Amino acid sequence: MSEDTVSASIPTDQLISLLLSLPDEAKKIINESDAPYDELKTIILGKESEFTKLSQSMRFVPKEDKQQVGIVLNQVKKSIETLLSEKAKTAHTSNEEWIDVTAPGVRPPVGHIHIVTQAINEITEIFNKLGFTRVRHPEVDWDYYAFEALNMPKNHPARDEWETFFIEYPGKPNPKEEKYQKLVLTPHTSNGQIHEMEKGILPIRTINIAKCYRRQIDVSHTPMFHQFEGMYIDKHVSIGHLKGVLDYFAKAFFGKDRITRIRPFHFQFTEPSFEVDITCGVCNGTGIVKNKEKCRLCKDGWLELGGAGMIHPNVLKASNIDTTMYNGFAFGFGIERSYMMKSGTQLDDIRLIYSNDIRFLKQF
Ligand code: PHE
Repeated sequence: MSEDTVSASIPTDQLISLLLSLPDEAKKIINESDAPYDELKTIILGKESEFTKLSQSMRFVPKEDKQQVGIVLNQVKKSIETLLSEKAKTAHTSNEEWIDVTAPGVRPPVGHIHIVTQAINEITEIFNKLGFTRVRHPEVDWDYYAFEALNMPKNHPARDEWETFFIEYPGKPNPKEEKYQKLVLTPHTSNGQIHEMEKGILPIRTINIAKCYRRQIDVSHTPMFHQFEGMYIDKHVSIGHLKGVLDYFAKAFFGKDRITRIRPFHFQFTEPSFEVDITCGVCNGTGIVKNKEKCRLCKDGWLELGGAGMIHPNVLKASNIDTTMYNGFAFGFGIERSYMMKSGTQLDDIRLIYSNDIRFLKQF
């Protein structure tokens, strides 16, 4: 109905008969439309509906007819509402989805922590049992902590090994403060040794786990990786203690049949220095697999874990530790590498760990 039909001129009779036709019209709409209940209600009784328009013309009805028209209006509204409420019993509102509560549910996908975090948690727990406390130190640090205090003065060739990312210091370095000249993304966790010693509390028994950065990327290197570094400083610390801790870790992390060996090596910050190997899990340390073939995973039964050694006296002295009373050991291994060796996955590309590919990560 257009605006002008709802006007002062509409005779009472006509208005009443128009009103009386509404329930039938409503029935038709309800039966023929598959619109949801609340949409139907808007069409039939809403602001734009015939019903509303007709009821607005009530104000123009002559006084003497008003009561009669009012009664009809109420009856019509009631019967339309009854029709609608019958519809509501069988239908559903548009924003209410029908749920079959008896249907079997769909399990929401549940993730798990990343394999590197799993390894970190496990390693932390093993060293906690030996009385080592987990500590954290800066991952962007002064050159002094990453090299200088570790017995690698400026321009020392040993620094080359670490493929360091130097970064711009955002302010002006203090020329008087020798320590604070250049910033680096820490290429190893050994900077933590110095921070720990500077606290001046002895003995020290810590496990420092942090991100490390080196300018390398290939199947066995990612530019960012993690190391865990154990350190023990006390009176009368021996290589025997170091070996004991390494063996304990090897058995707890890799399996009870595994053992470690230490080989002479060189680091500027340890003396003597070692490389630590662990027996290969595939050939059981023999280097030979069943059909007398050479094991393809290892070198003669041994896999390389990382570096270790007795802390160099120069390092202890740089942090004001009395070397006539105290000494200690340290070791630093890669988390990703250790995890790969443990799982026996023989991953042929370490970069997969950080590819964020759910198909890969799901397997662990
Ligand atoms: N920081 C050495 C590296 O990154 C490992 C290491 C740690 C060696 C502690 C000796 C003692 O290769």
